[in-house]
Amino acid sequence: MEPNLSAPDLVVRRYCHEDLPKIRQTLIDVHADAYADAMDDEFNQRFPWFVENWGGNPDFDCVIAWDGDMAVAFAYGAPATPQREWWREHVTPAPEKHRTFAYSELAVRTKYRKTGTAELISRALLDARGEDLVVLLVDTEHPKVQELYESWGLRKVGERQPFADSPLYTVMLADLPLR
Ligand SMILES: CC(C)(COP(=O)(O)OP(=O)(O)OC[C@H]1O[C@@H](n2cnc3c(N)ncnc32)[C@H](O)[C@@H]1OP(=O)(O)O)[C@@H](O)C(=O)NCCC(=O)NCCS
Repeated sequence: MEPNLSAPDLVVRRYCHEDLPKIRQTLIDVHADAYADAMDDEFNQRFPWFVENWGGNPDFDCVIAWDGDMAVAFAYGAPATPQREWWREHVTPAPEKHRTFAYSELAVRTKYRKTGTAELISRALLDARGEDLVVLLVDTEHPKVQELYESWGLRKVGERQPFADSPLYTVMLADLPLR
């Protein structure tokens, strides 16, 4: 499927673990804008902790879309730990090729929604990956976001709640490269 890209003139840049000090605040700012109507949720308020945790991984991989000098969206993840992939307990037998990229977080500033930016940066992140699979989690109460991911070729394989205070998530999986 051809990506549906009508994103404005954005420049997509790639960042790694060593870049964390210079992008940390950018990620927090874009997240705060994207989740502005849900920042009373304590789990969303813990985002800086997640940035530290994911960004602290030496294999952290992140893309940020820039409109001039304003960051408008980001997508990041890291290779999943073998045998502890989020899909593992739901897919039997395991796929023959199972090196997995865990796509952890995606956020687009509200002003840039419905422009293709989410797909642009997701494909920018994932197209460069060498793994066989991508896995992600989406809140079970956000079916429209799940539909968006389905339109990119991901499919639901199960549900999981990684933390006691986290939402219940739908686990979604796709082969890489995305179709
Ligand atoms: C998810 C996201 C990147 C998609 O951006 P997009 O491709 O421009 O698409 P939209 O913003 O139109 O979102 C698609 C649909 O999902 C809904 N949606 C998006 N984020 C949502 C959220 N956090 N909670 C509930 N619904 C949400 C939108 O309302 C929209 O529904 P609609 O088609 O009825 O209008 C963007 O909406 C976003 O940054 N959301 C907040 C952060 C988020 O939820 N990230 C995903 C984590 S799995």
